Amino acid sequence: MSEFVVSARKYRPQTFDTLVGQSTIAKTLKNAIQNDQLAQAFLFCGSRGVGKTSTARILAKTINCTDRTENVEACGKCESCVAFDEGKSLSVFELDAASNNGVDDIRNLIDQVRIAPHLGKYKVYIIDEVHMLSTAAFNAFLKTLEEPPKHAIFILATTEKHKIIPTILSRCQIFDFNRIKVNDIATHLQKIAVKEGIDAESEGLHLIAQKADGALRDSLSIFDQIVSFAGKTLTYKSVLENLHVLDYDYYFRLVDYALQENIANSLLIYHEIVDHGFDGHQFIIGLSEHYRNLLICKDPKTHALLEVAEQVKNRYKEQAAAIDAQHILRALGVLSSTDTSYKSAKNQRLLVELALMQLCSIKQELEKKKP
Ligand SMILES: Nc1ncnc2c1ncn2[C@@H]1O[C@H](COP(=O)(O)OP(=O)(O)OP(=O)(O)O)[C@@H](O)[C@H]1O
Ligand SMILES: [Mg+2]
Ligand SMILES: [Zn+2]
Repeated sequence: MSEFVVSARKYRPQTFDTLVGQSTIAKTLKNAIQNDQLAQAFLFCGSRGVGKTSTARILAKTINCTDRTENVEACGKCESCVAFDEGKSLSVFELDAASNNGVDDIRNLIDQVRIAPHLGKYKVYIIDEVHMLSTAAFNAFLKTLEEPPKHAIFILATTEKHKIIPTILSRCQIFDFNRIKVNDIATHLQKIAVKEGIDAESEGLHLIAQKADGALRDSLSIFDQIVSFAGKTLTYKSVLENLHVLDYDYYFRLVDYALQENIANSLLIYHEIVDHGFDGHQFIIGLSEHYRNLLICKDPKTHALLEVAEQVKNRYKEQAAAIDAQHILRALGVLSSTDTSYKSAKNQRLLVELALMQLCSIKQELEKKKP
């Protein structure tokens, strides 16, 4: 049996063009390589799992490639690229500052920096989680960073830019990595599903993408988890079950009931939701998000802000057509005050029920106000 490799590792991007959602950074780095204007120190900042380490490795590989493509990508065939791919390159060093944060670890590294590369033009030092270096290590490093030999390039990566001291910041070219958009994550997962021979519903993939909260790595881990549970078919339902997420169908129904002023059915649905073990506060937040999506559908200019699967978009648009903007705004007001008072409420269930009753009364309320 072949060894199982988690998707996050199996699908680490190997070229600038396969990086998802970081095109500005990729373009800037490519330009710098092409024009021979590379900085000697970079700082890659951004939240976890958005491609910092991957980009650092791509940069390292590309600048040492002896046969770069016209599109400024590594060839993957030259001696340097092959060594890199086999993890045997002597021109790239990776230091994980989370586990090697002492001054000795940095001294070891500094000692090596002086020696010229044996293959390729540059020696690249990737220091991950650089904010974890001890103060002594930082200080030892500062001198090297100030006057590095021509062949040395430092790529520092961190999730916590605010912890980096100004003396380091001012010596680096800083790149802020984006969180990855839900739609981009979903599209990426779709491609991986095809490669893995998995039949995946795009609604399910969108749900995973939402849950990943901007981190591509997280989305891949969740994907693996669900595939190991559900096998070769990944449905919306299987993702719901696995992630314990509330089906958006509930929200659609609740808005329908609010429009029909049907308090009884709204309360019954909420009962069902609580029965399934869902948290009331999360429910209020989810319902607010739903109303927000409806509001977005009201104006074609904001349609792009709707981050849901293609199939569901029409459902949102249909419901949005049946409800007017004023109604939505009132509903958002009710839900937002429920959200703020939730934590301090003694009877949280009643608070949510009260909100649902208010939602069912908005229509009447607005009609009364009409002249
Ligand atoms: N922008 C991206 N494009 C394509 N794949 C990505 C991207 N970001 C993350 N991934 C996936 O997630 C994995 C981990 O990414 P990477 O190690 O580059 O993230 P990171 O930003 O360094 O995260 P951390 O802050 O946790 O170190 C990669 O192997 C890849 O599968
Ligand atoms: Mg990293
Ligand atoms: Zn090459």
